[in-house]
Amino acid sequence: MQIDINKIRSDFPILSTQIYGKQLVYLDNGATTQKPRCVIDRISEVYETVNANIHRGVHHLSQEATDMTENARRIVQKFIHAKHPHEIIFTKGTTESINLAASSYCRRFCKEGDEIILSAMEHHSNIVPWQLQEDIAGIKLKVIPINEKGELILEELEKLISPKTKLIAVTHVSNVLGTINPVEDIIAMAHSHGIPVLLDAAQSVQHIGVDVQKLDVDFLVFSGHKIYGPTGTGILYGKENLLNELPPYQGGGEMIGQVSFEKTTFNELPFKFEAGTPNYADFIAFGTAIEYISSIGLDAIKTYEDELLHYATSELEKIEGMRIYGTSRHKSSVISFLVKDIHHYDMGMLLDKMGIAVRTGHHCAEPLMHELGIEGTVRASFAFYNTREEIDRLVSGVKRVADMF
Ligand code: ALA
Repeated sequence: MQIDINKIRSDFPILSTQIYGKQLVYLDNGATTQKPRCVIDRISEVYETVNANIHRGVHHLSQEATDMTENARRIVQKFIHAKHPHEIIFTKGTTESINLAASSYCRRFCKEGDEIILSAMEHHSNIVPWQLQEDIAGIKLKVIPINEKGELILEELEKLISPKTKLIAVTHVSNVLGTINPVEDIIAMAHSHGIPVLLDAAQSVQHIGVDVQKLDVDFLVFSGHKIYGPTGTGILYGKENLLNELPPYQGGGEMIGQVSFEKTTFNELPFKFEAGTPNYADFIAFGTAIEYISSIGLDAIKTYEDELLHYATSELEKIEGMRIYGTSRHKSSVISFLVKDIHHYDMGMLLDKMGIAVRTGHHCAEPLMHELGIEGTVRASFAFYNTREEIDRLVSGVKRVADMF
């Protein structure tokens, strides 16, 4: 299937916005994606037609809202090819998913001195939750280094693995470098030592898709808002046997079996990890977002975004003084760059005046910035609603700024 770009752009109301009198060019998709009309409408529809607290009422509305939420869970299950719907835990997003996994996993499986391996290209959401466990559980962190192209050095990973290694938690795609990591190799290496793997798919599921059973990955996390769904949604996938072993993360309503002041028992999966009233309206619309991109097809999306990436890279490379960070052959549609000694904030602010939205700064990946020896970059991240014309606007904007300095 091919991308029908005019039809797709008409699905996203915000894309026709003017910024400072200029047509918006939205290239900050790595931070959050825009929402198609069907997702926006779905949220209103839930509140207008079925709103009621889920899993708690015998009345009609509650049952309908519950069915729609559980249907959304099955949509996610199908999307990542999980074996069971109860292996999908709804969360607020990637950050909460990793905090849940880190807290419950370390409580169950780690003792003082045990090790968790991360990589040098993780964003803060896959660093700080584990650092908290250094204090709480006494674990130690080890870090897989990267090479000059921004790729993980797998020979070094092999050396980092020890009998104390309890988990490897890595990103599938770097939010700064765009590198698509060889997760099949990492998982095979980890499993050959009996070590589970957590995959941070926050920057991958919207571009390349994942099959958790084929990958045989143990945990996987991603956010709804980066995949054209509402903010405040995301999931933690875990293999059933592992999730069953983990203690609850938060206490509250619906995660319990029976409560007394003497002893409380816990609900079964997935409810054990979903304390309190869930964000069901947004979860339902999260399901709609996944159905929307599935109807376009991830293969078509990847082919189209790859073309945008190659076109933008070749055009930006022509600009004098351009330095692109992240030059792996296996790359997603993200370009981080600096031009001459122009500060990334200056570049970002001047591009904004031309109606072009990019992200600037450390991209919540300060350790990676230290590794690269820079404070930050300008980052253009593309989605399947972007066009070559928009890339031309970016390139001519960057040239204009470069000429000013
Ligand atoms: N992690 C998000 C980004 O890369 C916020 O922009």
